Amino acid sequence: MTPLLEVRGIDKSFGPVKVLHNVELSAYPGEVTALVGDNGAGKSTLVKCIGGIYPIDSGQLLFDGKEVHVHSPRDAGELGIEIVYQDLALCDNLDIVQNMFLGRERKNGVFLDEDSMEELAEKTLSGLSVRTVKSIRQQVSSLSGGQRQTVAIAKAVLWNSKVVILDEPTAALGVAQTAQVLELVRRLADTGLAVVLISHNMNDVFAVSDRIAALYLGRMAAQVKTADVTHAQVVELITSGRSGELGLKNGVTP
Ligand SMILES: Nc1ncnc2c1ncn2[C@@H]1O[C@H](COP(=O)(O)OP(=O)(O)OP(=O)(O)O)[C@@H](O)[C@H]1O
Ligand SMILES: [Mg+2]
Repeated sequence: MTPLLEVRGIDKSFGPVKVLHNVELSAYPGEVTALVGDNGAGKSTLVKCIGGIYPIDSGQLLFDGKEVHVHSPRDAGELGIEIVYQDLALCDNLDIVQNMFLGRERKNGVFLDEDSMEELAEKTLSGLSVRTVKSIRQQVSSLSGGQRQTVAIAKAVLWNSKVVILDEPTAALGVAQTAQVLELVRRLADTGLAVVLISHNMNDVFAVSDRIAALYLGRMAAQVKTADVTHAQVVELITSGRSGELGLKNGVTP
């Protein structure tokens, strides 16, 4: 199976500090790939390189097997790569429909086509079985953390994304909301998207992922099938970069 998104040998430094070392990552259609690693391992930096927010120093990005060059979030969006950031995802002062169509509004002549945007937003949310949102004309500031994540994810679906990357979508959520978001993450993958989920929570990782990619100090320690590893092994990969036969040898080379 060809990965929908593949990162090959990416290096990234901020000034003299090298944050990513020859990082590889593959995400497959129909699967959830969990990207794990300790604080500062480089997860968000890797995602920002993929999303065109940071330029890479060297390495390649492949989309559906072909090399692509992503220089801006717009480039990423045009390819069908959508990234959901915990805090930056939505505008508080706009309602759900306005957020979902922000920057890509539908027009009817010179006017905004509110009816068709509303209809499509409604259809997308209900297609994802989202039922907890009272009104799609509700301001996002009045939504709970879980509902915000849901709207951000629905936005990715609305724009026919093929790859959705979620940076810690459940970090600030309670138990019930986390379960809801994870269920949605699973449904996204089941519709054929490649989903990358960054999470610190091993229970979440094992609940929804098909594969796990563990970053350790800016190096990809291992990429494994979730079914082939235990919680303890993944924790070891995160904290020391290796676990038995898995991971980095001598703390550096994979
Ligand atoms: N803009 C930047 N300038 C300089 N250093 C940065 C910058 N962004 C990140 N770093 C450094 O890069 C390293 C990786 O940070 P990154 O945010 O990617 O980690 P992370 O794996 O997402 O961590 P967390 O789990 O805490 O979110 C850290 O040491 C951080 O200090
Ligand atoms: Mg981060």
